[in-house]
Amino acid sequence: MTGTVEIFEMGPRDGLQNEKRLIPTAEKIALVDCLSEAGFKRIEVASFVSPKWVPQMADSGDVLAGIKRKPGVSYAALTPNMKGLERALAARADEVAIFGSASEGFSKANINATIAESLDRFEPVAHAAKQAGLPVRGYISCVTDCPYDGPTDPAQVARVAEALNAMGCYEISLGDTIGQGTPETIAAMLDAVLNVFPADRLAGHYHDTAGRALANIEVSLEKGVRVFDAAVGGLGGCPYAPGAAGNVATEAVQARLTELGYQTGLDTSVLDRAADMARKMRVG
Ligand code: HMG
Ligand code: MG
Repeated sequence: MTGTVEIFEMGPRDGLQNEKRLIPTAEKIALVDCLSEAGFKRIEVASFVSPKWVPQMADSGDVLAGIKRKPGVSYAALTPNMKGLERALAARADEVAIFGSASEGFSKANINATIAESLDRFEPVAHAAKQAGLPVRGYISCVTDCPYDGPTDPAQVARVAEALNAMGCYEISLGDTIGQGTPETIAAMLDAVLNVFPADRLAGHYHDTAGRALANIEVSLEKGVRVFDAAVGGLGGCPYAPGAAGNVATEAVQARLTELGYQTGLDTSVLDRAADMARKMRVG
């Protein structure tokens, strides 16, 4: 297999959001600046959620204000509601993301809303973001397994994907939030989603709890997916997904994609430096 695959770097957001030590803003800014040099086109750097829910992300506006913005790089932010969008606009995020779930249990735990309530809440956020000229990405969590509800029905993932598509999301990122997906369950989920959404607007967002994220990426490549979310140094986890380990490590995805004959456009020596920084932030 050959061609280009994009890695959407998640380290500064999904990677750091679960760290217990409050990481100084300057360290976050230094990590983002290094990632910009590594050649990523999209980096998720901020999360405008409630600071009571996720204290680590409370300085997101300061991070966006402090980074050196490299031309051509989109600096992304999570926005769960209108208040989050207002903060993202004030901080000049380049794109925003709304984040829903395919399972009710995780939806309640993560954003304090049922799936239906969350979709109602996202609608004005997506509309206002587009009015302001910002691309909107959509996440779906728990696409194969939920820490509260067990296995997820692939048809349910497709239903949420249709709703996010109707709101104008330019891409949908499919989250194996607790890293329990297998190549078989990921393939079944993708088959259901591909009935309603094209592969070139999908991304795989696989946590590596069970060590299967690279295998899940490979099966996704076979289905035509060409964007994968990953975090340098394998940072991460979700505070509302008990047992969730980090995102698959960017450097491991980069190495595997290279072995398979894909180009990512990343500078591996700068990437290694960023991974080193990320690991040091974790041990704090
Ligand atoms: P709520 O408590 O239901 O919200 O939380 P509320 O509207 O009732 O507001 C409660 C308080 O929060 C109020 O303040 C609001 O002003 C404030 P108070 O009056 O008590 O002082 N508030 C905010 N403050 C700042 N920014 C905001 C904001 N919104 C409300 N945007 C809410 C609902 C969605 C806000 C909350 O549940 C929340 O912040 N959840 C986010 C949880 C989170 O960040 N999880 C991790 C990210 S998702 C993830 O990691 C999965 C992903 O990686 C994909 C995958 O792996 O599957 C994306
Ligand atoms: Mg995640």
